[in-house]
Amino acid sequence: MKTVLVTGGNRGIGLEICRQLDESGYTIILCSRNILKGREAANSLSKNVFVEQLDITDEASVQGLFEIVSARFGKLDVLINNAGTGARNEPGKQSITGKAKHILESNFKGVFHLAQQYSKVLRKAGIGIPMAGAKDTPLQSVKDIMDTNFYGAWRMIQVFLPLLLKSDDSRIINISSGMGQLQGLTGNYPGYSLSKSSLNALTIMFSNELKQHSVKVNAMCPGWVRTDMGGPNAPLHVSQGADTAVWLATEKEIPTGKFFRERAEIPW
Ligand SMILES: NC(=O)c1ccc[n+]([C@@H]2O[C@H](COP(=O)([O-])OP(=O)(O)OC[C@H]3O[C@@H](n4cnc5c(N)ncnc54)[C@H](OP(=O)(O)O)[C@@H]3O)[C@@H](O)[C@H]2O)c1
Repeated sequence: MKTVLVTGGNRGIGLEICRQLDESGYTIILCSRNILKGREAANSLSKNVFVEQLDITDEASVQGLFEIVSARFGKLDVLINNAGTGARNEPGKQSITGKAKHILESNFKGVFHLAQQYSKVLRKAGIGIPMAGAKDTPLQSVKDIMDTNFYGAWRMIQVFLPLLLKSDDSRIINISSGMGQLQGLTGNYPGYSLSKSSLNALTIMFSNELKQHSVKVNAMCPGWVRTDMGGPNAPLHVSQGADTAVWLATEKEIPTGKFFRERAEIPW
């Protein structure tokens, strides 16, 4: 039986990936920052789902899990780096898109200037109107997002690689986002976008480095999905958001070093 580890498995897309892979007969290590939330989430899943505590930003937590998985399973077939922190939490997020901003700027120059000044005053007062792009986003917030979405995933790969190398068909699946695609980058949600561009770069790096060991490393974008992160207006159900990751985990033959959405390759 193949063993899959899913980070951030207690809710959203991660939980749905666990549910779908559980139905397909995989052994699941459902990881949750809060063990009680993880256990509660796993209530509706089978006995092949093991719940473990994991904070991917915490070296000791990752090492601790490695010891547990080594002792219990001796190998790992699939690592799904799903845990992430979102654009919705990003302070200074830009609610006005580039195009809308342009229309506002050209048609209501005075009003726009006033709004900008007003928002600066409010931000200074700690009230904060969401107007910042890359030019004035707080760098600490970028670092915090990178710590989870990028360094967290990197740490997981480094620590779990010895176990992945013991599988004869091992795969790493990085849950990324179209917001990290280089061709579409704007200053919107700069920390989140950068974290996903970086995760994509890491995917390419590891796919090449691990080719000789036959470890397949890919990234996928789930689309805009109704979760706590995606919000209630997202068009996709979690089952649709999880589909491509599950496909990458279960499909017999998959490539390596690619970026997917809806089971099709998309540009980096
Ligand atoms: N939803 C979308 O529309 C969308 C679109 C594109 C990409 N994505 C990506 O898909 C992935 C899942 O997103 P989602 O929508 O399911 O988000 P979500 O509902 O907000 O769930 C995020 C999960 O990540 C966990 N997590 C956050 N920081 C962690 C840490 N330091 N260590 C361990 N776990 C941590 C959370 O745990 P807690 O419960 O403890 O907070 C939670 O289980 C993310 O990587 C996200 O960037 C989502």
